[in-house]
Amino acid sequence: MSGANRRLHGLIAGEIRGKGPITFERFMERALYEPGLGYYATAGARHGPGVDFQTSPRVGSVFARLLAHQIEQCRRRLGSGGDFTIIEYGAGALDLARGITRVLAEQDAWPASSRYLCVDPYSQAEIRGIPERVSEVEALEVLGQGGSVVLSNEFLDALPVRRLVKHRDGLHEICVGVETGPDAGGEGDSFVDIERPLADDEAAMLEKMIPTLPDGFQFEWSPRARAWMGRIGSALDRGYVITLDYGYRRNERYRPERASGSLLGYHRHRVERGLYARVGEQDLTSHVDFDDLIEAGEGAGLVCLGLTDQMRFLTALAGHLGLLEGEPGSPEAWKERLAFKELIRPGGMGTAFRVLIQATSADLGPLHGLKDPFVS
Ligand SMILES: C[S@@+](CC[C@H](N)C(=O)[O-])C[C@H]1O[C@@H](n2cnc3c(N)ncnc32)[C@H](O)[C@@H]1O
Repeated sequence: MSGANRRLHGLIAGEIRGKGPITFERFMERALYEPGLGYYATAGARHGPGVDFQTSPRVGSVFARLLAHQIEQCRRRLGSGGDFTIIEYGAGALDLARGITRVLAEQDAWPASSRYLCVDPYSQAEIRGIPERVSEVEALEVLGQGGSVVLSNEFLDALPVRRLVKHRDGLHEICVGVETGPDAGGEGDSFVDIERPLADDEAAMLEKMIPTLPDGFQFEWSPRARAWMGRIGSALDRGYVITLDYGYRRNERYRPERASGSLLGYHRHRVERGLYARVGEQDLTSHVDFDDLIEAGEGAGLVCLGLTDQMRFLTALAGHLGLLEGEPGSPEAWKERLAFKELIRPGGMGTAFRVLIQATSADLGPLHGLKDPFVS
């Protein structure tokens, strides 16, 4: 264990010793975001975010180019009058923000009244000029003034989640406890799963949303993702919410092969099943529940314009831009074509990642990226 890791491990163990087992949500919050120690709170200083996983903006600039094309269509649909703002949540190292603003500026599609704002309290990326960094409170205020696009890529999968397991007598929450003994690997305390029956009101609410599950089926629940979508929908005056992430519809999430849930740790590109390993030095993520996001949006006045996968979304946009026509003529164009292939690869990024687009009115559709390119 490194020094930081040992300190964070000790802080979390101390909290559990003081007040008993904590929810996994609380554990994940500290493991990822503890000031000065958590994975994202130190990512920039340690080795640059993104090193433990491959993100679409880092595969190639074509990703930002295609998204910029979709956003430009959104801006035109909203009408040219008034201010236009793009607000990116979980902007991390700003790869996407920089890519999109560069493309829009090159295309002169960036009127003086437009702004690109980033919300990421944990990003250590240096921001100068465009994009600007804002707090969530400021972002919500801006969303109430004029047309906006709320954009996120792999943001919701990084929000802390609760872990649940179904048993014959109902739903239980998998909390985090500590144990001292030989399993602790000589490090003193080790974290262990501790099950607790879920509160009746929460269990009743969840039972309405999920199918009948077999004994021992585990899954995650993200009240924070749902609440975020509710806040965005309530604040957004006119515009779109574009969410790119890996996740499932409910009818996929509760299949027998997913009975151990979707939570994973990532360390240096390797998937770690041990959620309690390398606390603060490994990323923790879980698949988002797109039905939850759609329902939360509808509850706050957002209409779902469509949910597709990254392969269809980017292929439709590339077709619209004429990006796939002819042989690439230069080494740069070949690189772009290869990056595009990686981004749309079936069984890889192309189908693992989904794209959800919601809007404040159904009249704001249809959008180029949501037209299925494989159906005439
Ligand atoms: C998996 S990273 C994705 C980074 C980037 N979007 C990309 O695609 O490379 C998730 C990001 O969400 C940020 N984040 C976590 N909680 C947040 C919150 N409440 N508001 C805004 N950003 C948050 C983290 O700091 C982290 O940079």
